[in-house]
Amino acid sequence: MVASTESPETSGTAEERRPVVVVQDLHVEYRVFATGKRATEADRGGLLRRAKRTRTVHALKGISFTAYENDSIGVIGSNGSGKSTLMRAITGLTPATRGAIYASSRPSMLGVGAALIKPLSGQRNVILGGLALGFSKAEIEERYEEIVDFAGIRPFIDLPMRTYSSGMTARLKFAIATIRNHEILIVDEALAVGDRKFRKRSEQRIREIRDNAGTVFLVSHSMQSIRDTCNRVIWIEKGELMMDGDPDEVIAAYEETR
Ligand SMILES: Nc1ncnc2c1ncn2[C@@H]1O[C@H](COP(=O)(O)OP(=O)(O)OP(=O)(O)O)[C@@H](O)[C@H]1O
Ligand SMILES: [Mg+2]
Repeated sequence: MVASTESPETSGTAEERRPVVVVQDLHVEYRVFATGKRATEADRGGLLRRAKRTRTVHALKGISFTAYENDSIGVIGSNGSGKSTLMRAITGLTPATRGAIYASSRPSMLGVGAALIKPLSGQRNVILGGLALGFSKAEIEERYEEIVDFAGIRPFIDLPMRTYSSGMTARLKFAIATIRNHEILIVDEALAVGDRKFRKRSEQRIREIRDNAGTVFLVSHSMQSIRDTCNRVIWIEKGELMMDGDPDEVIAAYEETR
């Protein structure tokens, strides 16, 4: 087994708990084309010439940690620090440039990009979303009322989703995605657009998933959501792991730098 890199106070009973995600010296680099405008006197007629060159963005620089079952891990850090990159790497959407990631099952990402079909009604999307999660039509019908209630958008459920506000869309996505019990669930800012009441409800749902032996990663800029949901916090800054441990301690250290 891979050695744990956590501090002793967070590992606690970790020895007896099952490791679910192991991230080892993870590096992610993005190669991007930078297009710079170069306006020189040689430009005829004032036309701008575009110079194309590749730039490498080193988004993650050697991240290591182990997540155990029943862990609910908050992921914090400033904008552009690498949180979403780390989550996408864990789900396998973004390849590692160096290092390794081991997961005991395929993580599900509940993100801004979840596939819902905008011209279709909320109702049709509940059915499609359920099918995509592997439920049969009968099983979805059985859960339909619960999903709609949880999302709290009943008066709009027969309207096309393109007419929904971003908060309403996020609520429906969350309600659909969490009907399944996920072994590893990644929530990247999905709760941010919900109102207070919905946030409380979804936090409760996250705690349930965690209690069902699931492992949850919650990326958020809301320290309140993190405190209310997580037993552990990982703080990333400029692609490096700053701290990994008790939520109150890590949040306090993070807030001191802001
Ligand atoms: N697809 C991409 N192509 C190139 N660079 C990217 C890509 N995605 C992210 N980056 C870069 O990687 C770095 C980390 O971005 P990331 O989205 O992981 O940050 P984040 O911590 O999730 O930020 P935020 O809090 O704003 O969501 C940034 O410098 C960003 O510009
Ligand atoms: Mg992000």
